[in-house]
Amino acid sequence: MQEILIQIKNEAMSLIVGAEERDIEQIYIDFLGKKGKLTLAMRDIPKLNIEERAEIGRLANEIKDILEDQINDKRKEFKKTSKTSNHNSSGKQRFEDLDVTLPGIKPPLGSLHLVTQAIEEITSIFEKIGFSRVRYPEVEFDWYAFGALNFPNNHPARDDWETFFIEQQPDPKMGPVLLTPHTSSGQVREMLKGKLPIKMLNIAKCYRRQSDVSHTQMFHQFEGLVVGEGINISHLKGVLEFFVKSYFGENRTFRIRPYHFQFTEPSFEIDVTCGVCDGVGCRLCKEGWLEMGGSGMVHPNVLKAGKIDPEKYTGFAFGWGVERVLMMKEGISIDDLRLLYSNDLDFLEQF
Ligand code: DAH
Repeated sequence: MQEILIQIKNEAMSLIVGAEERDIEQIYIDFLGKKGKLTLAMRDIPKLNIEERAEIGRLANEIKDILEDQINDKRKEFKKTSKTSNHNSSGKQRFEDLDVTLPGIKPPLGSLHLVTQAIEEITSIFEKIGFSRVRYPEVEFDWYAFGALNFPNNHPARDDWETFFIEQQPDPKMGPVLLTPHTSSGQVREMLKGKLPIKMLNIAKCYRRQSDVSHTQMFHQFEGLVVGEGINISHLKGVLEFFVKSYFGENRTFRIRPYHFQFTEPSFEIDVTCGVCDGVGCRLCKEGWLEMGGSGMVHPNVLKAGKIDPEKYTGFAFGWGVERVLMMKEGISIDDLRLLYSNDLDFLEQF
């Protein structure tokens, strides 16, 4: 009797282990059903003598428990896989679960960052009038950022740019290494390429030791440089006019104010009429004007540093902040510039 029970157990176990979903209920019937092999075998137990009965009875019940557990485990396993893979043997479940009339689930859509959008727009405006986009190192030598731009050694004007210096042995010719504080560092790099005329647009990250509502330590500038024969201030004004009207709108205008930069002579600051009050004067602006940034005619010493003959060629340059022009655009109100870089989706998703 004992052997018969163990044989039944072994047979059932090997079937259960290799069972497909459609087989499992039949296995249950064949072994544990009313006329199943184990059930029938157990019916003979009362016929045994008393000593055997207790022992065989315990064994039979143990085998019954084991088979029931194994079959239940298999059932659970099949249920799980049919849920995740969405198809079972009959395919019925799948169609019952699927309601094609329900609205779909919209995947979350990202968008370009506000500053990236501005950079793309600025680039396409200048490309229309023949400027080519270039990029130069963010980790730069003092010489390109200051020296070549007509800053005498140890001149205090370097302090105006609140530069981050890298702790590294200075290069004997190029000086200390720093994070470029302005895109003007690309001017002489572009000249040294040796191709004239130049019409470059350098847009890059810049770094300064500053952080308040209108400044971040990392920000972007776009720098224009035009060098060729006979270039003069009226060309600069024409380019300015084109940019201001294209970017801010036909109703906006600009003015140039005398200023001082080491690398331009004469130098100017450019103001654009305030988009909020239309140039009349309001809380946001200085009597109707918003300051956009610097520009001027390239200083002869800068041309010389770039191996260009200042007797033969002239040029103009301008450098403005991307975040700054963005804030000056109509309809965009950002009262704290640091919001742009705080990764706050509630803020960014508005644009
Ligand atoms: N580099 C200057 C700054 O960061 C801006 C600037 C002024 C750029 C005059 C120019 C320029 O190209 O001609 O403040």
